[in-house]
Amino acid sequence: MKKSVIFFIILLLITFVNCRSDKSKNNPSNSTVDFKIESSYLLLPIEEKAKEVKMTVQYNDNEPVSAFFLRLAENKIDYWVKIDVKKYFGKTITLRFEGVESSLLGINSIKQSDKFEFEYAEKFRPGFHFTPEYGWMNDPNGMVFLDGEYHLFYQYNPYGTMWGNMHWGHAVSMDMTSWTYLPTAIAPDSLGDIFSGSTVIDVNNTAGFGKNAMIAIYTSNGKIQQQSIAYSTDKGRTFTKYAHNPVLPNPGITDFRDPKVSWNDISNQWIMTLATKSTITFYGSPNLKEWTRLSEFSNEKGAHGGVWECPDLFPLTYEGKTKWVLLVSINPGGPNGGSATQYFIGDFDGKTFTSDSLPYPLWIDYGRDNYAGVTFCNIPQNDGRRLFMGWMSNWDYANNVPTKNFRSAMTVARELTLKNNGEHLVLSSFPAKEVSKLRAKENVVSNQMITKEKSISGLLKDYNGQFEIEMTIDRQNAKIFGFGLTNSNSDYINYTFDLEQNILKVDRRNCGIKDFNQKFASEPIAPLAKRDTYKIRLLVDKASTELFINDGEIVSTNIIFPTGGYEDLTFFTPNHSWKAENIKIYEIK
Ligand code: FRU
Repeated sequence: MKKSVIFFIILLLITFVNCRSDKSKNNPSNSTVDFKIESSYLLLPIEEKAKEVKMTVQYNDNEPVSAFFLRLAENKIDYWVKIDVKKYFGKTITLRFEGVESSLLGINSIKQSDKFEFEYAEKFRPGFHFTPEYGWMNDPNGMVFLDGEYHLFYQYNPYGTMWGNMHWGHAVSMDMTSWTYLPTAIAPDSLGDIFSGSTVIDVNNTAGFGKNAMIAIYTSNGKIQQQSIAYSTDKGRTFTKYAHNPVLPNPGITDFRDPKVSWNDISNQWIMTLATKSTITFYGSPNLKEWTRLSEFSNEKGAHGGVWECPDLFPLTYEGKTKWVLLVSINPGGPNGGSATQYFIGDFDGKTFTSDSLPYPLWIDYGRDNYAGVTFCNIPQNDGRRLFMGWMSNWDYANNVPTKNFRSAMTVARELTLKNNGEHLVLSSFPAKEVSKLRAKENVVSNQMITKEKSISGLLKDYNGQFEIEMTIDRQNAKIFGFGLTNSNSDYINYTFDLEQNILKVDRRNCGIKDFNQKFASEPIAPLAKRDTYKIRLLVDKASTELFINDGEIVSTNIIFPTGGYEDLTFFTPNHSWKAENIKIYEIK
């Protein structure tokens, strides 16, 4: 071969190699895999620490592609997620992965199966709190009562245990304590992911979808945030998106989300309470499809350390008078860091909310783990309760908590009422009466006189991490006193009443596993009015503690990850003495 030809071939080869490597540097290849469907599920392997890969699924030519983000396994498989492909049996579907080679472990290991198995009862799965069956959960959405069923929708990622791919998950219950999982209710579409919102029952068919249609109003989170609706005429089992979404387009505000809608008898229209950056904007509508801006609420004294989210507006009666409560979640900027829910008390004339002059910010819960909570709608008048549930986590560390196949639980259902704390009105929250029905064994403990320290060892050890403690603290003349839970691994959580500073301190700095996020090990505080006695109710469920003082006047909800279940109840005071009375322990089943 002539020298010049050889030289030309070498040059061509060099150019080709350069082109390939350049291409993979700037535009890593996409991979496509076809599956002829022979089973119910496609199982996809996930690695928690892997980077997110965009996956599109082409089911068949005349269906739009769906796109999701998955942490497809790179080095090891932590758990699996599924795509339900039953209805495509015998057909070929195509998965396309952006920016990854087909040699990736996560692509190579995708398999078909008729089963989707995982360890449901993992160590930190609570026993009497709602958790998603698998996958990630945040805010409660669209909570509504209809025909004997409480519906809980929730922010849900079916494709991983970290936040992403927001759908509305769905579960129903007869008593708000034991739940049945239902298929995912609303999935992302071309307008974006399905962010938080509410549902209403359209008793008078104002929207034209049918009398008593269940209508979901949610934020479509695409390039911008706007409000959309979807309706169900089969008690929430299937939803149809309204063809002309969005019903409330974005007016140029980046944070424009989380619509909570209710019918208002004063102005005879639907009222939407919407989080608009660091204010709340109210909109009105006759039919849920056309919305008019009514007013905007802000309050300088409220907390403004982060963006306002997930509002709710509802009336409560106090001494025969109607007062309106506005809940506003905020992230960050909570009283103990991260996310938390504040409230305002005032009046609503059907268009405008005016807050009473109170020492804001006021918080529905002073613990670290009660966020984005809102109330159920359509509770029958003869019941008349205002029922609330919150997401029992904190954006500071929610994505890292040490559970495997699922992340996060909701608080127990709580009843909201107005109370006077001796100085002013407060919003009190206390477990709904249904929660007490879960009490199994009752163990009455004799009164305890506390000087310095005392521990009732083994008292809690047979309850499998699920129990409730009730007691009355007669503080006598003690100024600092408290109680706690501990185990033989020296994990503990302590509740200290400090009447020198008028605060309650919840020390969970050594409550168990804590190294998953440095913001977790903390000591949240709550304001505490000086009283002679304090009534205590503490719910413990494997990985959570919910403390209610004086029937809900002060609440502190904090998640925990003890290395072994708490076994001992401890009492302490540095000086003086106090008495723990009426002590009862209940096993909760
Ligand atoms: C609150 C929130 C909402 C939003 C949703 C997204 O936790 O940020 O404002 O709609 O979560 O999942």
